[in-house]
Amino acid sequence: MTEPAAYDAIAEQYRESKWLLFRHYIERYTLIELLGDLRDRTVLDLACGEGVYVREFKRAGAAEVTGVDISREMIALAEADEDKDPLGCRYVCEDAAKFTPPAPVDIVAAIYLLNYARTRLELDRFFHACYRGLRPGGRLVGFNDNVRRPPRAGVSLAEYGFERTCADPPSEGDAIRYRITNHDGRSFEFDNYYLEPATYAAAARDAGFPDFRWVDARLAPSEQGDSYWDDFMAHAPLTAFTASKPQETGP
Ligand SMILES: C[S@@+](CC[C@H](N)C(=O)[O-])C[C@H]1O[C@@H](n2cnc3c(N)ncnc32)[C@H](O)[C@@H]1O
Repeated sequence: MTEPAAYDAIAEQYRESKWLLFRHYIERYTLIELLGDLRDRTVLDLACGEGVYVREFKRAGAAEVTGVDISREMIALAEADEDKDPLGCRYVCEDAAKFTPPAPVDIVAAIYLLNYARTRLELDRFFHACYRGLRPGGRLVGFNDNVRRPPRAGVSLAEYGFERTCADPPSEGDAIRYRITNHDGRSFEFDNYYLEPATYAAAARDAGFPDFRWVDARLAPSEQGDSYWDDFMAHAPLTAFTASKPQETGP
């Protein structure tokens, strides 16, 4: 699990990284497709960062969106945006593993939360928080380090402003170091952690998500056929996922 201050030092640079092309044409496109119609939905964004998707969900018509993040600086950036351009987004600075919303929501987003778990126990806590935040029949949707394709020596995605390295092959709990280079040429680094796909599947199932599945990241139609994306898509370092909380069954 991340130290609370880890993102405090890189909050501004992280915010800038949303201008990188892969974030728009792959991450955002895949998420929006997966989420579908958000009108009148209630949404909880766990590990919301500086609120880029909280605002996006609210603009897409969600009735209520709450963002939760452990970093004070990330939440401060999110709140500053809300002050500048009020959309009715709400933010809470707290460890997502401990957070329970006042009322269960239709959708929990976990966009780069789960990959901060270093152990099965920490992953269990994240999945339990997602589960308790949802109403029966609600959906969990997110993005993650692509643990099905750990970094490989000799594969570089630096041309996209994105590099990741770790032990080859990685073991449970190993750090995966991300190095992001923004359009202004400045780079910053942070770690998340490797757990095997089987660990994710077991933690999801045990938390109450019987249908957890990975969803390959997709390229926006406007970019398809452009060979620029071939390496990124061939070595997809990021992945989406989805799961649903079963409907309550009768007595
Ligand atoms: C890669 S950023 C993603 C931010 C946002 N979801 C996005 O896609 O732009 C990861 C975020 O996870 C937050 N985070 C890490 N561990 C957390 C935890 N236990 N509870 C809440 N937030 C956490 C960090 O502070 C950081 O803002």
